[in-house]
Amino acid sequence: MTKISPSLLAANFYSLEKDLADVYPYADYLHIDVMDGHFVPNISFGFPIMESVREKIDIPFDVHLMIEEPDRYIDQFIESGAHILTVHYETCPHVHRTLSYIKSKGIQAGIAINPGTPVSVLKDILHIVDLVLVMTVNPGFGGQSFIEETIPKIKQLHQLKLKHSHTYEIEVDGGINKYTAKLCIDAGATILVAGSAIFGQPNRKRAISEILQKSNHTE
Ligand code: DX5
Ligand code: ZN
Repeated sequence: MTKISPSLLAANFYSLEKDLADVYPYADYLHIDVMDGHFVPNISFGFPIMESVREKIDIPFDVHLMIEEPDRYIDQFIESGAHILTVHYETCPHVHRTLSYIKSKGIQAGIAINPGTPVSVLKDILHIVDLVLVMTVNPGFGGQSFIEETIPKIKQLHQLKLKHSHTYEIEVDGGINKYTAKLCIDAGATILVAGSAIFGQPNRKRAISEILQKSNHTE
């Protein structure tokens, strides 16, 4: 079954409690975008926000690190409540070591690739990852348009998963709405991240149902 991970980046931080209450009952994860202003041009948020939400809401944190030298912060993200910790391939010179370290701490390890990075570079680490995040926009900002050329990469990861009996989730992130979600699900995506297509809608419950391609008879 396809899972949904609403992206906190698109929430209104002034009314965060309400925004989270709107999505929490229908979400599988909460997607946490951490940006450092170096790997990506934008700066988002970090540990205090995670810890405040963690105290109030029991939802698995799907943490997406868009930061240089992620190894320096792995322990602190785990302490702040990460359930899945995803690093970018482009930021990890010793990616096998980084992923193995995350797993040794008892949480799930994810690897993300930018639209310009091919799936082939992941060949020797696919057996150790719990999740592959296919960026469907160039990372750094919410509200961008989906890049269709990423669809073959989702298919490729799905085929490799079947061929080698891998168990990783295939997550897509960026420009996901009810239309692009269908393309991704058909290609093999198992977790959909969506920010503006959920928090930008007045009815978040319905928005999630539509992205997951489910009818919502209670509306
Ligand atoms: C972009 C982030 C995304 C972002 C998605 O760099 O990784 O998670 O929040 O936002 P939407 O769904 O609005 O494209
Ligand atoms: Zn993200």
